[in-house]
Formats: sequence, C-alpha cells, structure tokens
Amino acid sequence: MTAAPSPARVEVLPSTELAAEAAAARFVAAAARALQARGTFTVALSGGHTPQRVYQLLATPRLATRVDWSRVQVCWGDERCVPPDSAESNFRLAQEALLSHVPLPASHVHRIRGEDAPEQEARRYDALMRRLLAGPGSRLDLVLLGLGTDGHTASLFPGATSVHDSAEWVAPAFSERNAQWRITFTPRLINAAAEAMFLVWGAEKAGMVARVLEGPRTPHDIPAQLIAPMHGEAVWILDRGAAAALRARAAPPAGS
Ligand code: 6PG
Repeated sequence: MTAAPSPARVEVLPSTELAAEAAAARFVAAAARALQARGTFTVALSGGHTPQRVYQLLATPRLATRVDWSRVQVCWGDERCVPPDSAESNFRLAQEALLSHVPLPASHVHRIRGEDAPEQEARRYDALMRRLLAGPGSRLDLVLLGLGTDGHTASLFPGATSVHDSAEWVAPAFSERNAQWRITFTPRLINAAAEAMFLVWGAEKAGMVARVLEGPRTPHDIPAQLIAPMHGEAVWILDRGAAAALRARAAPPAGS
C-alpha cells in the first residue's frame, strides 16, 4: 500500500517580488539539501513568463554564490517545439535570465531540442532523464511548475489523458490554445521528484488556484491536480493576487 502523497504546502507573499524571492530562496535551500545529501542537485526548470524574475534573482551574486553550480544538473519540465533562439523558447528564457550568468558546466545543461520532431525528441529526452537519474541515490530534487488559467501545468493540458496516464517519463503534447507541439514531463516523472514547486502570481489565476487546491478533484480536466509527489512535497508559492480566492489560510512564508 503506497503512502498517500502529503498535502500541498501553500505560501502566500504580499507581492510578486516577494513571491519570486521566496521561490528563489526555496531553490537555494533545495540545492543545499541535495548537495549536502548526495553531492548533486538536479532541477527541472519551467517556462512561460512567471519564472523569469526567479531566474534573475538566482543570477544575482547574493544568491548565485550560495549554489555550487559545478554540481548542478539543469533540465526542463517542458519546452515548446521551437528553435532555441525563439522568443518562445523556455531554454532561451532560462539561458538569458540565469544560466549564462552562473558557472554551470555546459554539459550540465540538458536542453530539450525543440527544433526536432516531437515524437523523436520526447523519446530522446525520456532516455536522457533515465540516464540522468540512474545513479544510486539520484533523484529529481526540484521541479519548477507554472499554472495556466485553464489548469494546465508543464505541458499537461486539459483532456490529454493519454499524456496524463503515460508510463513514459517524457511525452509530446499538443497545445490547442497555441496550436503548438510541446515536449513535457509526464506526471509519472514529476511525481517522482522530491519537491514540485508551483510559481503562480497574478489575480487572473486566483480562480484556477482555488479550483486546483480546494475544488473537486477532476485531474484530467485540471492537470495541475495530477501533481502530488509520492515521496516528496508539492509547494505553492503565490502572491496575494493569485491566492485571493482561497478559503483556507495558507502557511506563513518560510522563515517568517
Ligand atoms: C510553458 C510552461 C507553462 C507555464 C504556464 C504559465 O511552457 O508555457 O511550462 O506550463 O508555466 O502556462 O505560464 P505564465 O507563467 O506565462 O503565466
């Protein structure tokens, strides 16, 4: 009988900037724990607009010097099927805001090749993740996630049950809204992580945040509800706007 996943931890910050600071602090803390325990920190970055400020903060000397980047492995929880120099590329977002500013070995940057055929790249990246996490004690230490107003996370879109239920670790996914192919971690891989950290700010997401956390469980319609690390924790870092529709009191921010 497998243990039920622990309930999500929710932290609400008074502003977007403080939410980004809190997320960056959790990243640094997760890195410290992983490096202390196993000498490697494996993190999956997210895309979209939300994480940019978090990446910029992590690139500042104040925080960058607190991470031994030589022992960090960076991958992506999802990517748009676009070239790496596209303005839509999740790789480009992270490269410009963070990776080009820290001493991370190039061989530790595991870019999803958005320019390649989706099926082929999903298979390649699946095999890459299995190699990356094959070592004794290896684990996916932290997965950053966003939330769409339709309840998607990574590129797990509403109704895409074959992707949600896939036994694979990585799958191609089609975004109807953007008429765009994507490559995404599946819930099977995300839920093997030590920590899944949702970064969600903005009042426009308040209704969906409340549905995910407090509404009926309809995970195939609200894929963010699929995320519940079996041997880890889901953490939501929200600004006041994104938390506005929550009924329950959230935990005070860590360290407050
Ligand atoms: C992507 C992301 C996606 C994103 C949400 C929120 O590739 O677009 O992985 O899941 O996190 O759509 O996007 P925003 O941060 O732009 O609101």
